Amino acid sequence: MSRNPLIVALDVESRAAAMQLVERCGDLAGFYKVGLELFTAEGPGIVRDLAAAGKRVFLDLKMYDIGETVKRAAARAASLGASLLTVHCVPQVVRAAVEGVEGSDTRILAVTVLTSFDQRDLEDLGITGRTPAEHVLSLASRGAEAGAHGFVCSPREARALRELAGPARLLVTPGVRSAGASAHDQKRVATPAEALAAGADYLVIGREVTRADDPAAALGRILDGLS
Ligand code: C5P
Repeated sequence: MSRNPLIVALDVESRAAAMQLVERCGDLAGFYKVGLELFTAEGPGIVRDLAAAGKRVFLDLKMYDIGETVKRAAARAASLGASLLTVHCVPQVVRAAVEGVEGSDTRILAVTVLTSFDQRDLEDLGITGRTPAEHVLSLASRGAEAGAHGFVCSPREARALRELAGPARLLVTPGVRSAGASAHDQKRVATPAEALAAGADYLVIGREVTRADDPAAALGRILDGLS
């Protein structure tokens, strides 16, 4: 494997817990993801500190606001040193975020349909007559036109999305579970090997690692299964 495709989601309540995980996992993860829980608990300093320690940071804030606000917030994320930033896959939002990070190395990932959503959850949003996969592709084609550098999708849609997005855009898939592991609240899951075979560049691994007795061993097993 030429590069490490694993992103560990630091879904923990404090800086101390996050740093302990990072210390235990070290270079077994290619990226560390700071999401809503950790960012809300600890603020932007955690992103700055991880980046300063040489870690690549995926800032998963799934931004959704008026263009000017998203543009300015994305610029702040870039100045913190985040390598990847998520926004909702809506053209106005994607365009603003891409503008905000212009001139930096930060890449904008557009989140299509959450991996915890199924057909019924889409219907609750008023989206009827479409499967999650069809909705992902419809959102992504507009997101691509708006300049998204990549997409977040379920591994089940990765193959079709890769075709639509072309080779240059990044595809990141959460909802990844080794065979036999609990799916928790995720509904559209696949194994790490299946997700990569379907065209994903990076895999987000959360609870399977963060709730393991030995997170490094859990990551090592996943990496072994990929080589
Ligand atoms: O524990 P688990 O592996 O399910 O964690 C998945 C991580 O990926 C969580 O941090 C979640 O917020 C994130 N995520 C997701 N689905 C998306 C985007 C992000 O599960 N579409």
